[in-house]
Amino acid sequence: MLTSSPNDLESFWMPYTANRQFKAQPRLFVSAKDMHYRTSDGRAVLDGTAGLWCCNAGHSRPKIVEAVQRQIEELDYAPAFQMGHPKAFELANRLVQLTPEGLDHVFFTNSGSEAVDTALKTALAYHQARGQGSRVRLIGRERHGSGFGGVSTGGISSNREAFGPLLPGVDHLRHTHDPNRNAFSRGIPEHGMELADDLERIVSLHGASTIAAVIVEPVAGSTGVLLPAKGYLERLRAICDRHGILLIFDEVITGFGRLGTPFAADYFGVTPDLMTVAKGLTSGVVPMGAMFVTRNLYETFMRGPEHLIEFAHGYTYSGHPVACAAALGTLDTYADEGLLTRAAELEPYWSDALHSLRGLPHVIDLRNIGLIGAIELEPMPDAPTKRAFPAFLEAFENGVLIRTTGDTIALSPPLIISRAQIDELFGTLSTVLKTLA
Ligand SMILES: Cc1ncc(COP(=O)(O)O)c(C=O)c1O
Repeated sequence: MLTSSPNDLESFWMPYTANRQFKAQPRLFVSAKDMHYRTSDGRAVLDGTAGLWCCNAGHSRPKIVEAVQRQIEELDYAPAFQMGHPKAFELANRLVQLTPEGLDHVFFTNSGSEAVDTALKTALAYHQARGQGSRVRLIGRERHGSGFGGVSTGGISSNREAFGPLLPGVDHLRHTHDPNRNAFSRGIPEHGMELADDLERIVSLHGASTIAAVIVEPVAGSTGVLLPAKGYLERLRAICDRHGILLIFDEVITGFGRLGTPFAADYFGVTPDLMTVAKGLTSGVVPMGAMFVTRNLYETFMRGPEHLIEFAHGYTYSGHPVACAAALGTLDTYADEGLLTRAAELEPYWSDALHSLRGLPHVIDLRNIGLIGAIELEPMPDAPTKRAFPAFLEAFENGVLIRTTGDTIALSPPLIISRAQIDELFGTLSTVLKTLA
């Protein structure tokens, strides 16, 4: 185990990280338990972000650890193609009990990005399989996505600009963040349902018969916590139905209890045709993602000669035994501790704590839903992101892990957080915000 800072940080090209800043001022975690990380210099840090929106059950939870340990000894790997192993089927069956009604088949991937790519490919292949091969356009929304499919259909502009040309035939709905009308809202904001009509505009531009699918995060997370207005997702669903367009929910961050329901689809009462998950599926312990589809969609592929592969897609580690074991241990932990609905119990307390920051320097918006909170800071003139990043560094020095995206601080703790820890989190943040330039 690493007990002191390593002295050569050069070789590792770190993802989504200011490498030079980090290497000049390293921040290393060496262990974690429940709600806390421990740093290489021995400090406890309260996890305000569930790692990266993934450790929903908290850290090093016994049932998950034991399941993974047992699995490695029993079956380390089984080929994912033309072979199977029992835990992948067990997990699939357990998962489809949890998912919104109708989403009853699951395809395993290794990450959220792969789940999104899988869903986009599935949507295209589905239309081909039912004789509507002209449906090739994909509609995403601004400020979302990381893999090639996700970046193309999403388009957090800083993620996109270095990588063009991306997938062709992609259009974007506008994002749903409207601080002029919705600042300081608690829960789902009032204004912005009409933004869903962007889809009608795109349909009338290209014709419905060219559009395969729309992909959105029900609540956008990593791009800075963007909430949909009341009625927005319902309207999107209705427009998709009217035009035979598939609706894909990217529930990589909202899945597994983040909003106080198992999935955001349950929270909003809107069921997509395809749904992608990752992160909370294994509570972040082993990389794993998944795509859920309806029976109708699955059965559309199950035609033709039975010895032929119906969908030429998959990954070496799809349904990896260790990932499946981690996911099963995670589902047990969620069930034993009621974690998939705990955010609903905590939401009023969480919301009051977050909104107590109103009036602190530079705070121009506070918004929350389930166990998600966002603190938007006024950007420094001509220096976007420069206001919030020092808050992240200062919070870390003060024993709290937060995340910043642009000038928004995003909070998404493990679902096991106590009320006292919520007080600690916002108490520290209040102190930190008062120190900002
Ligand atoms: C909504 C959403 N989709 C997809 C991804 C990509 O997931 P991964 O990093 O597991 O590939 C992320 C990552 O944060 C995400 O937030």
